[in-house]
Amino acid sequence: MSQLLDLDKKHVWHPFTQMFTEKEPLAIVAAKDTTLIAEDGKTYLDCNSSWWVNTHGHGNEYLKQALIDQFEVLDHVIFAGVTHPKAAELATRIASIMPSDLEKVFFSDNGSTAVEVALKMALQYWHNKKEPKSRILALEGSYHGDTFGAMSVSQRGVFFEAFEHLLFHVDFIDFPSLEKEDNCLKQAEILFQSNEFAAVILEPLVQGSAGMRMYRPEFLKQITVLAKKHNVLVIFDEIMTGWGRTGKLFAMNYIQEQADIVCISKGLTGGVLPLGLTVATTKIFDAFLAPEKIKALLHGHSYTANSLACAVACANLDLIENEQFFDDIDRISAKHTQFFHEIKGNEKLSDVRQCGTIIALEIKVENQNYFSNIRDIAYDFFLENGLLIRPLGNVIFLNPPYCTTNEELDYMYQKIKEFLNEFIIHNS
Ligand SMILES: Cc1ncc(COP(=O)(O)O)c(C=O)c1O
Repeated sequence: MSQLLDLDKKHVWHPFTQMFTEKEPLAIVAAKDTTLIAEDGKTYLDCNSSWWVNTHGHGNEYLKQALIDQFEVLDHVIFAGVTHPKAAELATRIASIMPSDLEKVFFSDNGSTAVEVALKMALQYWHNKKEPKSRILALEGSYHGDTFGAMSVSQRGVFFEAFEHLLFHVDFIDFPSLEKEDNCLKQAEILFQSNEFAAVILEPLVQGSAGMRMYRPEFLKQITVLAKKHNVLVIFDEIMTGWGRTGKLFAMNYIQEQADIVCISKGLTGGVLPLGLTVATTKIFDAFLAPEKIKALLHGHSYTANSLACAVACANLDLIENEQFFDDIDRISAKHTQFFHEIKGNEKLSDVRQCGTIIALEIKVENQNYFSNIRDIAYDFFLENGLLIRPLGNVIFLNPPYCTTNEELDYMYQKIKEFLNEFIIHNS
């Protein structure tokens, strides 16, 4: 065992990991573009963008320079009662790329905190207005993070079992697969008629952790319209779907209707530094304005609006303005579509779905769950073949950095096909 793995074994507690049974982790010591380099010299393509965060590839020179430049002038400063140029620049630029009324930007550190802030904004909005609305609606299968509020609005299951009795009550409607769309809208309408709902929270178009499950923009539109009709605030959690993943900058860009609150994180810094934003309309913001301090949003984190993260996020926005960004997204989306057509009839798959740069293949298994055995077999197979793919149960998916070349994509597709062939042998 290397010194790194030895130190890790002695002192590190890994996320989402059964430390008793899990094999030793991959020791990654360097990364460039799409490639992760291990301590033993082996290389791996980063097929899921390092937990879906990396957009421009690793070691991007432009982001690096922004980070260095910022460090030389200001590393970090308290953000209560203080502002700094990169936070103001980032907030201004974010407001300019959001649908029209979404103008007020609240900073936090990651996706879960961006969701916590959104929930607090929505609940306190009604509290400040002295309207007794506190119920929240979410979709079956949703995942919004691992903090308590975020867990509450997420699908209950084995992940949250130990805490379930402490999570606040949330109403869930079915996942809006094509055949269920109308029924989902009816379920929502019945609930909204109670006039008790503060907000509905949605992962627009793609439910990430549920296995990259996809639904139509039409449903997103309909539920948004319905919520507005019943005076229910709409929260779009764009943490996974943002930054080009679905083919457009944000999934919400597929519809005209706009949310009251939008959560963004992950690709916000190109995958380099942790940062979360919760963007609200002026309507929401204005409900917190009052002479009384207790009407303010009394929330914050030590690293709120960290200036290094803000500087890198601004540099990320520069890269997004470059034509190359959407050219690559279109190129990867087109390649995925080709592969989708090639693989969709495969008898070992129960479903294949694609939305922009995300393609997901659901393997037919008897008992489908996150801990399904096939997940480990697939993970090991891909590692042996130089691909870091972390399946979600029986769902293998690709959402690579946008600098991934066509040859690298072809290699991923090829190995997936090989895995499907080998899978038959494992199960016969
Ligand atoms: C849709 C969505 N919301 C929230 C989160 C939580 O983000 P984080 O892991 O940064 O806390 C995730 C993470 O995968 C996510 O996919």
